Amino acid sequence: MSPDALAALHAKAFDRPWSAKDFADLIALGAVVVEETGGFILVRAMAREAEILTLAVDPAHRRKGIARRLIEAAARQLPADTLFLEVAEDNDPAISLYRSVGFEETGRRPRYYHRPDAQMIDALIFARALPDR
Ligand SMILES: CC(C)(COP(=O)(O)OP(=O)(O)OC[C@H]1O[C@@H](n2cnc3c(N)ncnc32)[C@H](O)[C@@H]1OP(=O)(O)O)[C@@H](O)C(=O)NCCC(=O)NCCS
Repeated sequence: MSPDALAALHAKAFDRPWSAKDFADLIALGAVVVEETGGFILVRAMAREAEILTLAVDPAHRRKGIARRLIEAAARQLPADTLFLEVAEDNDPAISLYRSVGFEETGRRPRYYHRPDAQMIDALIFARALPDR
């Protein structure tokens, strides 16, 4: 997917969309996109730790297992021991998803996300061990 297509899909999934330039810059710095029709995940690995930077599935394609497959495909590719992510504490679909694929809550960042209505939301930090390779 091009940076324009990534930004367009991201805008369907998030209140605060990232621009095509945001995606191009992250990819230039080493982030990797794993995609399938209707969704993508953007991940980055550094010093044996990997991070999910964003994960978006088109509302028209949800609850078909796309996000689960994208996470597992990224996990197989990442040269790291642990995969981390941050998620808004009120994002129940994403929290259910991450728990269902073996992530556990390891921390919290208070007032991390600013909503368009100025509300502040804590981020939960989740982590999952990656298989040896
Ligand atoms: C969260 C998101 C990525 C899930 O994508 P998806 O492709 O629909 O998820 P999957 O079909 O792979 O779901 C896998 C499991 O996650 C859980 N899950 C996913 N969506 C859920 C929902 N709306 N409510 C409850 N559980 C949900 C379920 O356990 C589901 O398994 P099941 O369908 O067998 O019950 C998608 O809703 C999305 O893009 N949301 C907006 C962006 C976002 O929040 N991204 C993550 C930010 S950290």
